Amino acid sequence: MRDPDAAPVRLADYRPPAWTVEAVDLVFELDREESEVEAVLALRCDVPGAPLRLDGEALALRWLELDGRRLAVDEFHLTNEGLEVFPAQGLARCRLRSRVGLRPAANTRLEGLYASGRLLLTQCEAEGFRRISFFIDRPDVLARWRTTLRAERARYPVLLAGGNRISERVLEDGRHEAVWENPHPTPCYLFALAAGPMARVSKRLTGADSREIELNVWVEGEDPEPCRYALGAVERALRWDEQRFGRCYDLGVFNVVAAQDFTMGAMENKGLNIFNARYILADERSATDADFLAIESVVGHEYFHNWSGNRVTLRDWFQLSLKEGLTVFRDQEFTADLHSRDLKRIEDVRLLRGRQFAEDAGALAHPVRPAEYREINNFYTLTVYEKGAEIIRMLHTRLGEAAFRAGMDRYFSEHDGRAATLEDFYAAHSAASGVDCRDMLAWYAQAGTPVLAVERHFDAEHGRFELRIEQRPPANVPGAGPLPIPLRFALLDAFGHALPPPAVHDAEAMPGGGLLLRHARHVLRWEGLAAEPLPVLNLGFSAPVRLELAYTALERGRLVREARDGFARWDALQALALEVLLDRAGARPAPAPAEAEAALFAALGALLGDAAAHPAFVAECFVLPDIDTLADAVPVADPLALVAAREALLERLAETHAEALAARFAALEAAAGGGLADAAMAARRLRHALLPLITRRDGGAAARALFAGARGMDERFAALRALLHAGVEGAEAARVRFAAEFADDPLVTDKWIGLVATRPRPEALEAVQALMATPLWLPANPNRVRALLGGFARSNPAAFHRADGAGYRLVAEQVALLDAINPQVAARLLGAFEGLPRWAPAFAGRARAALAPLRQGERSRDVAELLARLPA
Ligand code: TRP
Ligand code: ZN
Repeated sequence: MRDPDAAPVRLADYRPPAWTVEAVDLVFELDREESEVEAVLALRCDVPGAPLRLDGEALALRWLELDGRRLAVDEFHLTNEGLEVFPAQGLARCRLRSRVGLRPAANTRLEGLYASGRLLLTQCEAEGFRRISFFIDRPDVLARWRTTLRAERARYPVLLAGGNRISERVLEDGRHEAVWENPHPTPCYLFALAAGPMARVSKRLTGADSREIELNVWVEGEDPEPCRYALGAVERALRWDEQRFGRCYDLGVFNVVAAQDFTMGAMENKGLNIFNARYILADERSATDADFLAIESVVGHEYFHNWSGNRVTLRDWFQLSLKEGLTVFRDQEFTADLHSRDLKRIEDVRLLRGRQFAEDAGALAHPVRPAEYREINNFYTLTVYEKGAEIIRMLHTRLGEAAFRAGMDRYFSEHDGRAATLEDFYAAHSAASGVDCRDMLAWYAQAGTPVLAVERHFDAEHGRFELRIEQRPPANVPGAGPLPIPLRFALLDAFGHALPPPAVHDAEAMPGGGLLLRHARHVLRWEGLAAEPLPVLNLGFSAPVRLELAYTALERGRLVREARDGFARWDALQALALEVLLDRAGARPAPAPAEAEAALFAALGALLGDAAAHPAFVAECFVLPDIDTLADAVPVADPLALVAAREALLERLAETHAEALAARFAALEAAAGGGLADAAMAARRLRHALLPLITRRDGGAAARALFAGARGMDERFAALRALLHAGVEGAEAARVRFAAEFADDPLVTDKWIGLVATRPRPEALEAVQALMATPLWLPANPNRVRALLGGFARSNPAAFHRADGAGYRLVAEQVALLDAINPQVAARLLGAFEGLPRWAPAFAGRARAALAPLRQGERSRDVAELLARLPA
């Protein structure tokens, strides 16, 4: 293991590689216990006289050959981190041949070559390839790849690697071989192989550029049918990228493999994407609507990386958001174009404001492009992905679709087959649009969420209205300079009509409407108004900022009714709910007046009774701000007080609208039976948002009926959640039945385990511990760890923050155990403590005490780096 205390890697220290790999020829002798890898690297030296150093970790070196000559042990230097080859120094080119041994079955890190079930798989991003072969493991070394896989035919009937398959043959003694070639220059983090007994669904199609393409989605075993939906999603993604971005697929085959053991969501390896099975396998019996939508979105994400990440890759890992933020933006647009733009925006902003804002305000806050890191795996965060996507979205808002598309085309063509930086990206957009948008780069350098404080002034006598806008630095980054903010807004007159843009302002108008604010202060002025207008700011969440603008409860109620787009209406309702909740939690200096709660309930009641309102939209309105969002809105958070306030408000809401809730739930029953059509999903979304409220009043009758008569997993799971979380009669019986019926399906088992872990009661802790004492506890399976401990730590504030500190201790103890198995999984779990600096002193004290023992033992670089950033 590398030294956790070694100096950090710094962006400022970047140097181009002294040596590069032009071509790689790999031969694998695959076996789960003991695999062998022979690699021939065609190396070129670009800095004459530079030593040849290769990365390599946990490799059993058998021998080395340089230009056909076996090297003696004193001709190279081998360490825990790699290899230096002395006789290569001074050469302009050479061929290095190495043979190493690997132990896939013992690889619980799931990085490099590992076993999952009967499959052998690889995961190389970010720095996993060095666990497969000696290599120059950095993203700006782009090589051409040829991969030969050999294995026993009976155990490994399917042999897949990146690129196109160029040959296949049977060998002696029951073995066989497949050779794959990837003609596109590709860094090693995009290398992949998959071998074992797999079945596939498949489709042939012709790309917009007339290329014949075979799409395959593979899963372990004999039954590929659960891959059917994912295959459709691949095809939709491919067509969408052709149409919206003019990007075509560039190989003859696109393979996707589902893996039961996988650390993250999925991986965009060139020509061979490997996915967490939960983002592939789905049918109506075993997957919820949310699962289907997540599959489509992740399939799209990985597919879109083929251009944003693979054809144009990263110069170094500091540029991570260049591929991730951009690709999240692309997958968001894919979902918005295919389904509902308003709903997608609501979901994304909910995640951003709930989780990313919290990350950006907490102990682990970092800029989208950090200046340094110890372990790059710790930077695959909401900030790099979601805030990164928001920055791209701001660029899109600023330039408009046509200029943005021209900038993307220019970026892709200028950097095709190369490794790029964020500067390259903004230079391409500036050149294509004629708008110098390189000032957006400031967003990447500064952590924290900027504040827009807005005051309004109406001079009735002169009919003059002003918005005085001040941009303040994030609370945790004092002194940060103003960032360019594309602000979309509207002014509503007394009749709810939108007024024209301001007559006077000192900002730059954007082509699609709205203004680009560049300074700390701006004044926007309207003249000749008969009455005071009602402003709506940050329409569509045009910038990821905290907006401080005081409204009365009545005004917020008007916005919920009259704002033009769904997002603004939802946003006004959330703001109202937030105000009421914070007041109830005593977390507000000045109590919100009683009319705030009345306005909230009136707005929700009106939505409930409005048969014309889109059911999915109403559902989103009934999802009140979560604890992360509440905690984020106050300087010091008492998590249990926030939980109690939310509980009490939900109780009141259930009581106030009891009849209307039941009526709307019943009215949607027929529509909810329509399979996977968008309208049926919307009906279910609303029914299932209302069900927990109904369950508070009816003792579980509606939920039990839904469970008994469920027409698919979406209904069954919603019913089970309502029953288990309310702890009503029949809950345990339903859980036992559900668990037994799906005992052989690990993904569905994760679902009910997740419900147990998130039951909003302090006793959920004992339930989690009880499960950990059964064979269902699989600490080496990341999905199971996430379902049980991730759910507990991240989505069960009532138990995690328990007053006796037992929740914190459980998680801290498990971080220590998991760290020895899979450091990435352990580090992610530790992230549950990121809010610690802003927890009320009693909570923070208990959390620090729980973390103290973790600081003693030997830790991975992943966990050590996060521990160092959490307050001791
Ligand atoms: N590049 C992947 C994506 O966002 C995510 C990823 C990074 C990953 N590191 C990983 C996936 C490690 C699995 C394991 O699409
Ligand atoms: Zn990605």
